[in-house]
Amino acid sequence: IKRIGVMTSGGDSPGMNAAIRAVARSCAYYNIQCVGFYRGFQGMIEGDYVEMDARSVRNIISRGGTILKSARSKEFHTSEGRQKAADNLKKAEVDAMILIGGDGTFRGGQIFSKEHNIPVIGVPGTIDNDIYGTNYTIGYDTALNTVVDAIDKIRDTASSHNRLFFVEVMGRDAGFIALNSGVGAGAEEILIPEEDLGLDRLLASLERSRKSGKTSSIVVVSEGDKIGKNVFELAEYVTKNLPDYDSKVTVLGHIQRGGSPSCFDRVLASRLCVKAVELLLDGKKDLMVGFVNNQIESCTLESALKEKHAINLDLLRISDILST
Ligand code: F6P
Repeated sequence: IKRIGVMTSGGDSPGMNAAIRAVARSCAYYNIQCVGFYRGFQGMIEGDYVEMDARSVRNIISRGGTILKSARSKEFHTSEGRQKAADNLKKAEVDAMILIGGDGTFRGGQIFSKEHNIPVIGVPGTIDNDIYGTNYTIGYDTALNTVVDAIDKIRDTASSHNRLFFVEVMGRDAGFIALNSGVGAGAEEILIPEEDLGLDRLLASLERSRKSGKTSSIVVVSEGDKIGKNVFELAEYVTKNLPDYDSKVTVLGHIQRGGSPSCFDRVLASRLCVKAVELLLDGKKDLMVGFVNNQIESCTLESALKEKHAINLDLLRISDILST
């Protein structure tokens, strides 16, 4: 391996720049070349890349977003698109790729590697934390802190006005952000896709809260939760049944994806990406690096895609006890 390509793909997450930096610097340390492809798979298809040396990644460890930009490439779903990408890698003399992203990115990488025999290593970067083979994905910790900070602010105004707030947080198919930020911000209820607690239980719990003398209530709703059709309809249903509540909805949205990465995410990204480069230099391929019990490990891309990252449902019980 003489030349490694790196890209970021799918939803961006804080810490992706720290990851790009760690790839470029590790390549420089081991005397190999590094190129960065723009806009994920799309940049590979278009041959849109930049040479990266140790200095080209200066001062980016603290920056949110990704300097290589990100995209979800439709063209890469076609074999013609992947052929173009393979031709461009050959032209650019790139021997292997490091793919920073989530499950969509790994799925694309796995097919590409099989079709064109180009080694790839996946690095889990998504705020959702929904990847098997790692306890944490890059960006999740920062996103949690952003959400907790936002809910703390909502709590201030909620208790000033004796209001009930429904706060929708990201997590297309997974409740990691909702569950952990909910416990961290002391939410009264947490709704996640992994567990359907039912509308009756929600109503009973909110009614209990009001009677117990609480001056505000916060329900954290994961965007992937299916208890209501969406958070607005859920709020409408609850206020119809509990007319004493003055309720509001806040959708936190893409604010959760931005911002300077936490120290945890910077260190995580750094450790994962040094390992990713070292695995390629050791002749390994089609693996994903992960953080498991404080160690940097790797698993096959296949298992990362097949298995599900289990969520700790005991946190629902903890939340129940503590929101009494
Ligand atoms: O996959 C990360 C994520 O932030 C999800 O939680 C969310 O549903 C999705 O991306 C939003 O994607 P987009 O930026 O394309 O709207």
